[in-house]
Order: sequence, then C-alpha cells, then structure tokens
Amino acid sequence: MKADAGLKISQFVPRYTSYPTAPHFTGAIDGGVYEQWLQDLDPAKPLSLYLHVPFCQKMCWYCGCHTKIVARYDPVARYAKALRAEIGLLADRLPGKFQISHVHWGGGTPTMLSSGDFTEIMALIDKRFVFTRDAEKAIEIDPRAVNVKKISALAAAGINRASLGVQDFSLKVQEAINRVQSFELTKEVTENLRAAGIEKINFDLMYGLPRQTEADVLRTVDLSHKLLPDRIALFGYAHVPWMKTHMKLIRDEDLPDSGMRVSQAELAAERLQELGYCQIGLDHFAKANDTLSLALENGALNRNFQGYTTDTADALLGVGASSIGRLPMGYVQNTVPLQGYETAVLAGQFPISKGIAVSMDDRLRGQVIERLMCDLKVDLEASARQFGADSSYFSTELAELKPYENEGLVTFQEGLLTITPKGRILVRAVCAVFDSYLKQGLARHSKAV
Ligand SMILES: C[S@@+](CC[C@H](N)C(=O)[O-])C[C@H]1O[C@@H](n2cnc3c(N)ncnc32)[C@H](O)[C@@H]1O
Ligand code: SF4
Repeated sequence: MKADAGLKISQFVPRYTSYPTAPHFTGAIDGGVYEQWLQDLDPAKPLSLYLHVPFCQKMCWYCGCHTKIVARYDPVARYAKALRAEIGLLADRLPGKFQISHVHWGGGTPTMLSSGDFTEIMALIDKRFVFTRDAEKAIEIDPRAVNVKKISALAAAGINRASLGVQDFSLKVQEAINRVQSFELTKEVTENLRAAGIEKINFDLMYGLPRQTEADVLRTVDLSHKLLPDRIALFGYAHVPWMKTHMKLIRDEDLPDSGMRVSQAELAAERLQELGYCQIGLDHFAKANDTLSLALENGALNRNFQGYTTDTADALLGVGASSIGRLPMGYVQNTVPLQGYETAVLAGQFPISKGIAVSMDDRLRGQVIERLMCDLKVDLEASARQFGADSSYFSTELAELKPYENEGLVTFQEGLLTITPKGRILVRAVCAVFDSYLKQGLARHSKAV
C-alpha cells in the first residue's frame, strides 16, 4: 500500500506518546504550578517514576534522544547528585509517602552511571517511597556499555526488566549509523542479564535506517528471535536533521523511501507474528503470555512516553533533565540544559521549563487518540458521553475520515471507529485527525510511516 493512496495525509505527524504533544507545551506551567499539582495527588494511589540519564559513550547518528557524549565521569557524578536532590525534593513536597508501581530508567544510556551511584539512587527511592510488591523496575541498556559486574549491580538494586538497544544486525547498516554491535555481544549480554535474574528482556529494533533492506530487517528479526526476547519494539527511524544535527551525517540517498519503509515494517510484522509474537499497537510485539499482550486483550493497554505499557498509575513523575511528567492535571517538562537542571534542583527548586494544563477537550481527544494508538478502535460516542459532550462532537473529524473509509483504511459503525489491518500503518495519521493542536500547524514532526 502506498502511504499517500489518494488521501490528503500529512507526511509529518507525532508519535502520540502524549496528547497534547510536547511541542505544544508552554512556559505558562512552571515549578510553582507543578508543586500545586503534586500537592493535589492522592497518596492512596501509586505513582510511576521515569528517570532520564542524558549521557552516552558514542553518538549513534540516528539518535533522536536527549543525550550528550561524555568521556569523563565528573559530569555524570554531578548529574547523579542532582538526581538524588530531585528525588528528595519530590518526596518532600508530595502530600505523603507514595507507593511506586513502575520505575523506568531511560536515556541516553542509564548504565553510564557507576554501579555505586545507581545503587544509591535506587536505595534512596526505596527509602523515600514504597515500592509496590510487584513493582516493575526497568532499564534501557546499550549492550556495548555493560559488563557482568554492572549487570549484577543492576540485579542487586532490584531491576527486573531490561530493554536492549539492537536496531539492526547487518554490519553495513551498523556502519552507516555509527553503531557497530555484533550479534555475539547482544547474545552474551542477554544471557548475562538472565543469569543475574533479570529475566524480562525487550529488544529495540528499527526499520527505515540508512542502507537497510527488507532482507536486513527480516534477518534481524530472525536473529533476535534466537535470543527469545519477551517483547520487541520495531521503531520506524524518525529522520529529523533540522532538530538533531548529527542526523545530517546520514546521507539522504542511503535512506529507504516511504514505500520501502512500509514494506520493511509490514514484512517484519508478518514474520514476528509467524514467530508467535502478538502485534501491539503501532510498533510493539510481545509473546502471547506477556503482560503487554494480556493487557491488549483486556482493553487495559496504555501509552506513555516510553511507548506501550501496562502501567495504570494516575501520575508518572519525570526525574532528570528533559524528563516529562504526566499528572491528572496536565504535563510538565524539566529543563533540557544540564547546568540549568542541576542548579535548580540543588537550590531546592523544581526544574520545570514548560508544560500544559489539560482542558476537558484535551482529555477527551487524548483518550480517543490513546485508544486508537493502543486498540486501533474507539467508541467515539461513548467517549464523548463520558466527557459530557454530545454524540455529534466529532462530526468534522468523521467527515475528514470519509476518504480513509472509502479506501478501506477505517470503518465507522454505531459510534465505533475501527482502523482496519490495511490502515494499521497509518494509525498516527488517523489520530492526527483528532489533534486540534496539529491543525493550528505549529510543529514539524517525523514521517507518518
Ligand atoms: C535511549 S535508546 C536505548 C538505550 C541505549 N541508549 C541504546 O541505544 O542501546 C532508545 C531507543 O530509541 C530508538 N531510537 C533512537 N533514536 C530514534 C529515532 N531517531 N527514530 C526512531 N527510534 C529511535 C532506538 O531503537 C533506541 O534503542
Ligand atoms: S541510540 Fe542510545 S546509545 Fe545511541 S546515542 Fe542514542 S541514546 Fe546513546
């Protein structure tokens, strides 16, 4: 299928890990507003934490994350101190000792922290909060940046899920993205994690990379399957060189075109399903008995900044430079520059640079978009009713979706909007129809497929 099969599909749309999306956050939300929002949280309800570590050893040219390359430990040690200060600040200002149901360490490369700093921070969280009995404690791992000693420290600190960055196993692709990582290394790290008791393993793979072919993507899927990860994320490379200048090192002529991207994504999805993985939303795959697959079956799948999740916490608090928090009242984002972040938290101030308070319309549209991203269907009339709106609330959007319906990409019956298997790859474009901020045309995003 062509991405633009006779439809007016915007080529650039968000990934909808939140609604409203981050480009629409403003400076109207500051540390004072955040403090009030924290005060209004219910101590009876568990929280989730996201901790960001914005350091790596070497830049991967496709990288879209907030990170910087460091050669020495000093800046990392200063940052670890700031993380501890921010955790203390949160615990001091929250109205009670809260339970934590999910912790996610992301980056950058969280294992750039020394084992000592990592262990100390996990112990501090344990002291100032209470982990629920079955709390998920997850970390993103660059297999090139861990060893057996570090892995045992992670396990001893309670980590029970690891996401390994893999991307593609072909050397020519690895060279074109400045990330050479052998299958043997990925295998060894996977085995070492399991031996240390970190049994829940995710792999991150990518399609749409420079010099990558359909055969490379399929070979990467097959090799990954040999290592039996519980979950596989298959991300489409978001090429945004106007935002990340190192992406200019990737030559335009090496990039697969939209048609090739679609067939890489579709072939990989087919192969993963043949291998027994369930397809979850836009870009995740999980074994049939995995909690993510069970959540999908039960209509309990959610989406947050880390992608698809079983996390049901009312609030996700972001810790670290650039981290985004989601609270019932709205979103907040910490400042990105390290110095500003560290100075603020060490002075006892929340380092919030922007955010957005959500209106009723935002909540309703956010729910519609989240259900479409997770379940590929949503009962529009029931959602409108739930938020006190009438059943014709989305009549403009439904009119806009007519061409999609004519092309067999969506169906609409008795209030239920469903994305068909043919339309799945355009789920973000369907969500964009419900995005009233995008219509104001302010931000530039990555390609829809
Ligand atoms: C923070 S990294 C994972 C941990 C570690 N830094 C690593 O690379 O192994 C998160 C994942 O985001 C994905 N990613 C990074 N840049 C991307 C981009 N521009 N488009 C799509 N996915 C991207 C990659 O699959 C990467 O593994
Ligand atoms: S993909 Fe991971 S290892 Fe590579 S630069 Fe980005 S955050 Fe660092």
